[in-house]
Amino acid sequence: MKWALIIGASGDIGQQIARDLAQDGWSLYLHYHQNTDKIRNLAQELQMEYAKQDFLTLQYDLTDCEHLEQITNNLFALDAVIFAQGTTWYSLFSELPAGQLSTMLKMQVETPLLLLQKLETKLTRSPNGRIVFIGSIYGGVGSAMEVGYSTVKGALSAFVSAYSKEVASLGITVNVVAPGAVDTQMNMTFAAEEKAAVAAEIPVGRFAKVSEISYWVQSLLSEKADYLTGQTLYVTGGWLK
Ligand SMILES: NC(=O)c1ccc[n+]([C@@H]2O[C@H](COP(=O)([O-])OP(=O)(O)OC[C@H]3O[C@@H](n4cnc5c(N)ncnc54)[C@H](OP(=O)(O)O)[C@@H]3O)[C@@H](O)[C@H]2O)c1
Repeated sequence: MKWALIIGASGDIGQQIARDLAQDGWSLYLHYHQNTDKIRNLAQELQMEYAKQDFLTLQYDLTDCEHLEQITNNLFALDAVIFAQGTTWYSLFSELPAGQLSTMLKMQVETPLLLLQKLETKLTRSPNGRIVFIGSIYGGVGSAMEVGYSTVKGALSAFVSAYSKEVASLGITVNVVAPGAVDTQMNMTFAAEEKAAVAAEIPVGRFAKVSEISYWVQSLLSEKADYLTGQTLYVTGGWLK
């Protein structure tokens, strides 16, 4: 049986990844931070639908990079890790609170990277070890009002480019799936007119569905995807590229 750890499985994109991987026969470690109800319901739903697979839940705050054994002690076999957690902060960079910058860097870069150091040996034991980060188009092109977030996402692309070279011979691939605008709660703060204005700029003419992001994670986890590593795949409907 193949096992994947989904960090941020309680998020909109994370939940879809969980559903799609479960359908593909994966057993899952489902990480969440605060949304206990969502993760419990998701685990129950998947367990009922896929009785022969296992779905275990894990709570952890990724702004804490010092107690990672609370995650690693709960993992047995491991073939893939997907990082689908994240938050942003809208303001001019000159007004970005230091605490918010630190939170974004810790939960999206520092803690995930330190966790990977601890998981490398387990992933090496898999015939097809996989690491996928959900990045952002802003990590490639940068965005005003989200300079801190753009920096964090760009760091992930730099990381996969470098780390993939160290672990390729261990059979592990490392990639970023970088969405443009996705129809999730992260964008609920925008008014309908603001969302329509963004959609009008996207060549495909609309925000992505979560399944259109998850599809690429699923594909990267396929055994046939051994030869694609160190890449950032921009899944943007043609937006900003
Ligand atoms: N939505 C978009 O338009 C869009 C575009 C480009 C990239 N992305 C990226 O896609 C990823 C998922 O986004 P989404 O739209 O699915 O967001 P979402 O629904 O808001 O989910 C966010 C996830 O992050 C987790 N999280 C938040 N704070 C955390 C912390 N301190 N420690 C650990 N986990 C924490 C949440 O856990 P709990 O809910 O359990 O607290 C949740 O699972 C993010 O990396 C985001 O940057 C999104």
